[in-house]
Amino acid sequence: MASRKFVDQLNVQIGNEFAAHQQYVACAVYYDALTMPQMAGFFYRQALEERDHAMMMVQYLLDQSERVEISGVGGPVTSFDDIVAPVELALDQERRVTNQINELTAIARAENDFASDQFTQWFIKEQVEEVATMSDLLTVVRRAKNDVEAIEDYVAREQSSAASDPTAPAKAGS
Ligand SMILES: [Fe+2]
Ligand SMILES: [Fe+2]
Repeated sequence: MASRKFVDQLNVQIGNEFAAHQQYVACAVYYDALTMPQMAGFFYRQALEERDHAMMMVQYLLDQSERVEISGVGGPVTSFDDIVAPVELALDQERRVTNQINELTAIARAENDFASDQFTQWFIKEQVEEVATMSDLLTVVRRAKNDVEAIEDYVAREQSSAASDPTAPAKAGS
């Protein structure tokens, strides 16, 4: 049993994570079409991480024998003014998700729902990393916006793979 308010908001967040997945696929395809394979690969991997976040939340609700909603998502932004714009959008998205996760934690605490409070802690740490990653990438892309190869080199060197995290919550379906 989790608190009713927490379950309602976590179901909303599952939709937000799937929307983030769609948005990052759109960013990846944009860079793929520009033949920027490193940036494309980075966003394809980020997209998979967002799907994983949704499936961790699904698994948590299943474990708690709570209702799970898989909602539709709004269409992502698919056209961008320049190669900086998708990263700006991604950083805004990560900051927004950070606020959403903080709100989930606040609900769990207000409701004395200690298991749900603990469940959100991994996501708090994850958001610190994701905001830092996107913020660094935005700095590089702004600085090198006329030097695509410099951006590609940076991503290949610094963002080529996501290390697996043994402390991550279990995902539904895996
Ligand atoms: Fe996420
Ligand atoms: Fe994220």
